[in-house]
Amino acid sequence: MFDQSRRGVKGHPQHQLIGHLDRDARTTPHAAATPWTGMPAARPTATRNTVDRDARSVPHGNTRLRELKVRSDRPAWGTNYLWFVSDLRLEGVHHISCITGDAPGNVEFYVGLLGMRLVKKTVNQDDPTVYHLFYGDEKGSPGFDLTFFEYPGARPGRAGAGMIHRVLWRLPSAESLAFWKERLEAAGTETSLEGKSLRFTDPEGLDHEFEIYSGDESALVSRHKEIPPEFAIQGFQGVRVFSGNQDLTEEALDEVLGFEKLGEGLWQRAGEERSGTCQLDLPPTERGIPGAGTVHHIAWASPIDQHERWQERVTSSGLRATPVIDRFYFKAVYFREPGGVLFELATIGPGFTTDEEAGHLGERLSLPPDFESVREHAEATLTPLPDVTQWRPDAG
Ligand SMILES: [Fe+2]
Repeated sequence: MFDQSRRGVKGHPQHQLIGHLDRDARTTPHAAATPWTGMPAARPTATRNTVDRDARSVPHGNTRLRELKVRSDRPAWGTNYLWFVSDLRLEGVHHISCITGDAPGNVEFYVGLLGMRLVKKTVNQDDPTVYHLFYGDEKGSPGFDLTFFEYPGARPGRAGAGMIHRVLWRLPSAESLAFWKERLEAAGTETSLEGKSLRFTDPEGLDHEFEIYSGDESALVSRHKEIPPEFAIQGFQGVRVFSGNQDLTEEALDEVLGFEKLGEGLWQRAGEERSGTCQLDLPPTERGIPGAGTVHHIAWASPIDQHERWQERVTSSGLRATPVIDRFYFKAVYFREPGGVLFELATIGPGFTTDEEAGHLGERLSLPPDFESVREHAEATLTPLPDVTQWRPDAG
């Protein structure tokens, strides 16, 4: 279905597919234009020609697979057939990972102001010299995990083609929307209220949007001494994406990942308990610059017992996926969708209480067993962070 060998990524080892900030990119704006090792920052726009038409085993040249499905009562290709008999599911968004150049300020904003709980303070497993901070609800549930890699002093980035440019969150009511408008503005954060949505950016320019959610999926809520629970953020709604090739992104969402089209450019992946959306937008003409205030990747939530099969499914589509990687708190498979956005499939569990008590998540530096050897160095060199217990409901 997708032939990535034509897109210049064939042969790259796993860490190059996942990518990380080049050291120089942390402080050098020009280097920041190509921060993903071995890969361009804003991936070249894919074209229809990147689809391996031979792999489809159909003689219709430019005819799209979806059109073939409509015209034929027979699936056009093997993987597509497997989809019809597959029980593979994704439970919406698992986590969304971003970049910050200022971890202390990041904690102040997301925990102190937005009321998220720091559910895990750990290191980037692909670069254990830097933080990986996870913000979430009380339990650190998939569906409400906003994570940040800290690269101290990283220059501001800019979303472009092949990047996620906005994170969408659920709020319970119009009253909560008004509460957040007042709270954000009182803290000096500009907001933009349009109907049932409130937009704002974090101190490094990462774009967020609160939306009133009226569905029946469970609310994922964290507790904060200044935020009434009935106004608290309830988890992810989804993301808005600048696809480098909307046609191919839609094909991957539809045929490989099982998303459903809700409207023009608007796709949703629903599981048995949760759903998440992916809105495709026309990218700006300026190329993207990964850096502080940008999204690194999004992870969709996979049942643990289906994860290997998901890896096989993505690989069999022609997209280049990593093997299953054990991240200790969950397992991960990474791949770039054909529009250039880095996707991950992450397992629902084992979760963040694996190595900490639920009542004290995020209060100390947590290191998976394989990373304990770096603790002494990490604790001596990582940026000191604010004491997050000051914002807990039982804090004085
Ligand atoms: Fe991730």
